[in-house]
This record gives sequence, C-alpha cells and structure tokens, in this order.
Amino acid sequence: MSKPVRFGIVGSGMMGREHIRNLNLLPDARLTALADPVASSLEHALTEATNPATVKTYDTAQALAASGEVDAVIVASPNFTHRDVLEPLFAAGLHILCEKPLCTTLEDARWAADQAERHKGVFWTGMEYRFMPPVAAFVAGVHQGDVGRLVSLSIREHRFPFLVKVGDWNRFSRNTGGTMVEKCCHFFDLMRLIIQDEPVRVYCSGAMDVNHLDERYGGETPDIIDNSFTTVDFAGGQRAFLDLNMFADGAHNQEEITAVGDKARLDVLIPDGDLVFSPRVGFLNPKQVTRTHVPVDPAALEAGSHHGATFYQLEAFLAAVTEGGPVLVNADDGLRAVAIGVAAETSAREKRVVTMAELGF
Ligand SMILES: NC(=O)c1ccc[n+]([C@@H]2O[C@H](COP(=O)([O-])OP(=O)(O)OC[C@H]3O[C@@H](n4cnc5c(N)ncnc54)[C@H](O)[C@@H]3O)[C@@H](O)[C@H]2O)c1
Repeated sequence: MSKPVRFGIVGSGMMGREHIRNLNLLPDARLTALADPVASSLEHALTEATNPATVKTYDTAQALAASGEVDAVIVASPNFTHRDVLEPLFAAGLHILCEKPLCTTLEDARWAADQAERHKGVFWTGMEYRFMPPVAAFVAGVHQGDVGRLVSLSIREHRFPFLVKVGDWNRFSRNTGGTMVEKCCHFFDLMRLIIQDEPVRVYCSGAMDVNHLDERYGGETPDIIDNSFTTVDFAGGQRAFLDLNMFADGAHNQEEITAVGDKARLDVLIPDGDLVFSPRVGFLNPKQVTRTHVPVDPAALEAGSHHGATFYQLEAFLAAVTEGGPVLVNADDGLRAVAIGVAAETSAREKRVVTMAELGF
C-alpha cells in the first residue's frame, strides 16, 4: 500500500482523540476522516488533528466506509456498537484496528472473528497493554526463560473508577460486556500471551461495592463490577490471577505484573516503568534483586494515557498495512479475551467455576 496511509476513526471520543494524537506522530499516516453521531465529539476531536480542514466528518461508519477517503479505520466507538460499525468496514474491504473488547457478547465476537478470517485487509484487535515498552520487555524476559519454567502469573490493577463517557454508556454491563470483559480483556489477553497457552477454567469473585452506587441513569443504578479476584487455570497447569480494584486512585503503580518460575521472579511496574528481577538464592543468602528501567519515547508518553502503548501499537499496525508486517493481535485473540471475560462475568454472577469448554473453547 502506498504511503501515507489514509486513516479514518469511527468514534471520536476519548480514545478516538488519543489515536489522533498518536497518528500525528507517524509520518506514514494521515487522518482523513472521522465518523461520530455526536457533533460535539467531532468538533472536539478535530482540535487534535494536525490539519483539521482536510479531515472529512460523517455521522455514521457506513458513510465513512462509502466515502473513498480512507484506507484504514480505527474503531473507537462504544463497545456495544462494534458489531454494527464493523459490518460496513468489512464490506468495504478496509484495513481495521478495532478497539477492545472486540465485541460485548460471545456471539458478536465470534461473528467478527469469522468475518476477519475471510477479510482481505488487515484486521487487528486493539490490545495495547502488550505494547507498553516495559510490559513488552517483561514478556520477552519470561519467554527467554528469565524465571525458568513459568508456574504462576499474577496481575494487579489498582486504579481510579471508570471515567464519565459520552452518553454514560459504560455504566451498564449490557453496553460494555461487563467490567471483566470491558476492562479485564486486556489482562486475559496478557495471560494468554505470556503463558502461551489457553485457559481451561475460570473462577471470579467480584461485585460493585463502592463506585457508582449513588448514580442513576433513567432511574437505573449501574451494574458494573468495581473489584474482583479472578483465578484462571491454563491447560498446561500454569495458573494466573487477576486482582482488580477500581477505587484505589491513590495507588503508586496502577499495574503490577509478576511471573514466578522455578528459577526466579520477575515483576513489571507501570507507570514506574521498571522491571524487577529476583533470582532464587536460597533462604539464608543475601538477596540479589536487580531493577531495570525501560524507557518510553517522551512524545509517545505525552500523546496518550497508556504509557506510550497507543503509539507503538499504531506503528506496528501501520507496518502490517504497508509492509505486510505481522498482525500481532488478531481477531481470534480478541475473541478469546472476550471469552475469558464472559467466563469471569458468569462466574462472579453465578458464584461458581466456569469451564472454557462450557463456552465452546
Ligand atoms: N485500549 C484501551 O486501553 C482503551 C481505553 C479507553 C477506551 N477504549 C475503547 O475505545 C472505545 C471508545 O471508548 P471511549 O473511552 O473513547 O468512549 P467515549 O464515550 O469517550 O467515546 C465514544 C465516542 O463514540 C461515539 N459513538 C457512539 N455511537 C457511535 C457509533 N455507532 N458510530 C460512531 N461513533 C459512535 C460517541 O458519540 C463518542 O463520541 C471503547 O470500545 C473502549 O472500550 C480502549
């Protein structure tokens, strides 16, 4: 494909604007179109564009897809719209990067994965935690055997509550897929990537205990989990654990990921950006802990709120579009992350272990 690649964005809210700021940093990308039914979202997003006068605006994904103005499209509309939005983009044969979660239900995610398999363009699921440089270094370290034989993986996200979104769509599980799908698909994707295996059973204990309790939308109270513990057993015997807390605004590191193998333990801390390596030296010996800082391009850090990940992911997506580079997160990855999230949501609701086989995996 010739450069620069003409990009459209469907959904020009918070994440759409982050994508615009990052496209601005890529010389081989040019923003040419936005689609959003809300005029104020379009206006606000245009203020982020390098050349707003050259960006066409539409109120639907259909109109953008039919415009002939774009080669590649980023889907950054609310989770529950992804299926409807993807339909015309697939039909137009465009290259697609679809924000997580792929869809809110297994049925829709399966549909998207099926379409993507037959799609001639690149299809990429937005799973940007993989692309935070310290996380990428952590994954490489585990894969090259730094901890020995990996046995357990734990991920802690302690953060602020869900932000306010356009139309408050993220307050209800029917719109998001539920917190374990919406937010935690990132971490379930990381578990699969790091362990390089598939899960067999999931147990999640979680509830909405602190946030949103006094909020009402059309008389309805939000129904989204704000804290949970999830255990995921993998086919090869490794176990993974996710500790999510969304009323921990003051936590120093938002994400802490720990891999423990038979030889050592490796941690990655975000936003500190440090890897901490702790080899087993025996109970009575002095510890030999080393801490390494993994740098991130300051412009990429500045352009988003995901530790530079949006930039590095878009760079890799662009390489897939222009040079036939690898698709690092395909639709099947997106589907499987949704499936673990659905298992966790079901487990929390029904207070039981859910097997992946029940869901057809
Ligand atoms: N990768 C990440 O870490 C990350 C972070 C935040 C959000 N996201 C994802 O990005 C997507 C958008 O989230 P957000 O935080 O920007 O939400 P937002 O509410 O800030 O923005 C969504 C925008 O989409 C528009 N919209 C609604 N229906 C639409 C439709 N049918 N077609 C086109 N536009 C439509 C809304 O008017 C709004 O402007 C979600 O899928 C979310 O899960 C990913």
